[in-house]
Amino acid sequence: MVTRFLVTNQWGFFITLPKPMIPKILTKKEFPLIPPKLNLIGGRRIDKMIKIKVKHSGIIKLKKITDKDGDGDMFIAEATKNIPFKIKRVFFINHPKRKRSIRGKHAHKKFNQAIFCVNGSFVLNLDDGRNKQSIVVNDPSVGVLLGPELWHTMTNLSKGCNILVLADDFYHESDYIRDYDDFLKHINNGITR
Ligand code: TYD
Repeated sequence: MVTRFLVTNQWGFFITLPKPMIPKILTKKEFPLIPPKLNLIGGRRIDKMIKIKVKHSGIIKLKKITDKDGDGDMFIAEATKNIPFKIKRVFFINHPKRKRSIRGKHAHKKFNQAIFCVNGSFVLNLDDGRNKQSIVVNDPSVGVLLGPELWHTMTNLSKGCNILVLADDFYHESDYIRDYDDFLKHINNGITR
């Protein structure tokens, strides 16, 4: 359901407008960012406790090979094996300059994507139109599936945060739903503007 807010028009009458979907930046108190090195919440590894509540999503685990001499860890994604689709496109986002950067703010009609944080951390906010959920993504071996019809935003990007996305199709803008009300219309009636 779309929340509406009251404003007065030029003649002083109250009119209602849909409230724009403003992604909330979570405060440290609401969602404490976990130091990436620790990867722990209350002594348990984060990937063990993430439970996806929204539709068209899931946890994706990459194979991790730890170098015993400390020369760097390796993370392996294999299309149709641990990545549940054939990969046609890869893109990454790095060097967020502002603490309050917000990425995403859209849903896709058909694309499937897998999102990872290869360095640092960010908060992934998911919304399937019914359920909402925020996940701290801070372990390079644990990604999240972004299926179709899932409104998503990335907030709380840490310094040096690098986001990696694998996608099952080439970029085409016609797959994007960039307006939250259109997203709700799309999932409720299958219609967009
Ligand atoms: P967008 O997907 O909106 O970024 P984000 O969700 O991370 O905030 O993309 C930003 C811009 O880049 C937009 O103008 C579309 C363009 N773009 C491409 O040209 N090709 C691509 O593969 C992607 C992902 C984006």
